[in-house]
Amino acid sequence: MQILNTVPDVRVVVKEWRLAGESIAFVPTMGNLHAGHIDLVNKAKVLADRVVVSIFVNPTQFGVGEDFSTYPRTEQADQEKLSTVGADAVFLPSVSDVYDPDAATVITVSGISERYCGAFRPGHFSGVATVVCKLFNIVQPDKALFGLKDFQQLTVIKTMVRDLNIPVQIIPVETVREANGLALSSRNGYLTESEKLVAPELYKVLCAAKAAVIAGRQSFEEIEQQFVKNLVQFGFKPDYLSICRSQDLNPASDNDTELVILVAAKLGSTRLIDNVYFSKGV
Ligand code: PAF
Repeated sequence: MQILNTVPDVRVVVKEWRLAGESIAFVPTMGNLHAGHIDLVNKAKVLADRVVVSIFVNPTQFGVGEDFSTYPRTEQADQEKLSTVGADAVFLPSVSDVYDPDAATVITVSGISERYCGAFRPGHFSGVATVVCKLFNIVQPDKALFGLKDFQQLTVIKTMVRDLNIPVQIIPVETVREANGLALSSRNGYLTESEKLVAPELYKVLCAAKAAVIAGRQSFEEIEQQFVKNLVQFGFKPDYLSICRSQDLNPASDNDTELVILVAAKLGSTRLIDNVYFSKGV
C-alpha cells in the first residue's frame, strides 16, 4: 500500500493508474477506522481497479468547543488495517497540505446544510462539502463511497456533486451496527461503560418510531414528540428526531412514501447520530 502525504504524491500515483486505464474508487475518512470503514473499503475494491482512502481530521467541519483536538488519531493502526484489507493507497495530508493559508473559497450547499445537524453545528456541512470537493479534485476518483449513517452528510454531498457537475459517482453504503443495534462510529469510543449500555436504545427508538409511522395512527409531529420524550426517559439529551423525505430531507408530509427518520442526541458528552430509512407504501 502506498502512503501519500502530499497532493503532488497523489497526482503522480493517480496519473500512473489512469495511463494504465485503471478506475479509482475513493473512501474519504477521518481515521480511527472501524468495521464500517473497512466495509466501505471492501465494497470499493469490488467497484474499481484501485482504492484510495484518505485519513484527514478536517478542522473546518468542527465548531468552537467541539472535539477537533481530542478526535481520536490512530494513524499507525489505521494504516495496518488498510494494508490488511488491501487498499492501494492511503492519503494522509497535513492541514497545510489541504488548506492554503490564504484559502478564500468555501462551498455551501444551502438549505439542507442549515437543518437538523446543521442547526446544531453551524458551518459543519460547509466544512464537509469544502473538504470533500477538494479531496475529489485531488484524487479525481470515478466513484466515492459514503456510509448511510451520516445520511444528511451524504445528501449534502450528493447535492454538491449534482450542482457542481463533479464527475464522480456517489455510492451509499449501509450502516454497520453492533449486534445490539448501535451504529458504529469513531465517537462511540467516548462512551463510558454505563453509557454503552444505554446507547443502543437510540436505534431501538428509531425502529419504534418507524413502526409508528407505518401504523399510521398518529401524525408525524405526534410521533416525533413521543419518541423525543422516550429518548429523554432513557437519559439522552435529544437535539432532534425528525421524519423527513429521504430524497431531499424536507420535512415529510402524509403523502410522502420514501422516508427517513433522522436523530441526533447526546449521551453524557457524546453526540450520537443515526437514522432509519424506509418506504411507507400507500
Ligand atoms: O464522514 C467523515 O468521516 C467526514 O465527514 C468526511 C466525509 C471524511 C469529510 O471530512
